[in-house]
Amino acid sequence: MNRDLPGLTAKTIGSPAFYLETAGSTNSWIKERGNSLPHGAVCWTGRQTAGRGRSGRRWESGDGESLAMSLLIKPSAPTALPLVCGIAVSQALRDLTGGQFYIKWPNDVLCEGRKVCGILCESFFIADRSFSVAGIGVNIGQSAGFFKQAGLHHAGSLKMLCPAVPDMPVIVAEVINRLEPLLLRFLKDGFPPLKSEYEARCVNLGKEVAILSSHGEVIRRGLATGIADDGSLMVDSGGGAVPVSFGEVSVRGIDGYI
Ligand code: BTN
Repeated sequence: MNRDLPGLTAKTIGSPAFYLETAGSTNSWIKERGNSLPHGAVCWTGRQTAGRGRSGRRWESGDGESLAMSLLIKPSAPTALPLVCGIAVSQALRDLTGGQFYIKWPNDVLCEGRKVCGILCESFFIADRSFSVAGIGVNIGQSAGFFKQAGLHHAGSLKMLCPAVPDMPVIVAEVINRLEPLLLRFLKDGFPPLKSEYEARCVNLGKEVAILSSHGEVIRRGLATGIADDGSLMVDSGGGAVPVSFGEVSVRGIDGYI
């Protein structure tokens, strides 16, 4: 079903746009149609019943309180795509709400120290052609009680943290508008030209961090000193900074979430 995306100005992505009353996973919806849909196709829903998160976690929002959107990129994008999406989402949410949004490496978007957006980018092959899907989930209308009950102590929603909450289609449109120039540059020149924009928003830099495996075990600790050209986090554990690539690891602050 089509539904207008008010304010959409992007020309190279965001069309066709599919509004889904409900979806299992929007990433899967795009993947299943990856062969026939063009570059830039997007789908979105407020009711995602089998959403997928990083490290095999679930990301569900069947209650209409959370936006799930996915965008098809053809051919597939380099691995720093989730970081590029994190910049676009933080810019879009700042524009729309006036709030301050930051990024916890690699791609959690935070407001007032709470995670309001998760990003899962996946690459896949169909008949020898490679595609990427950029999946973005934004917490919009949930209450603090909802997250407490779900055991998501570091999560927050726009409704909890921002004075004005835009409608979902407006958010979809602005994320796409913000992503377009970043993606064009990224697909042409890679991540280096976008690195300073990312670093300016990254809450981990200059802080002591613990690197966790997908099972939550601490693999290393050290000082986060910068971002490498491929989007890896540079961490100095005493012998000089070495890159930590973002596949299946995540970071925490030494004393807490950040
Ligand atoms: C995370 O674990 O932080 C990433 C969550 C990513 C969720 C989004 S919602 C839209 C897209 N569809 C999915 O199934 N997952 C992503």
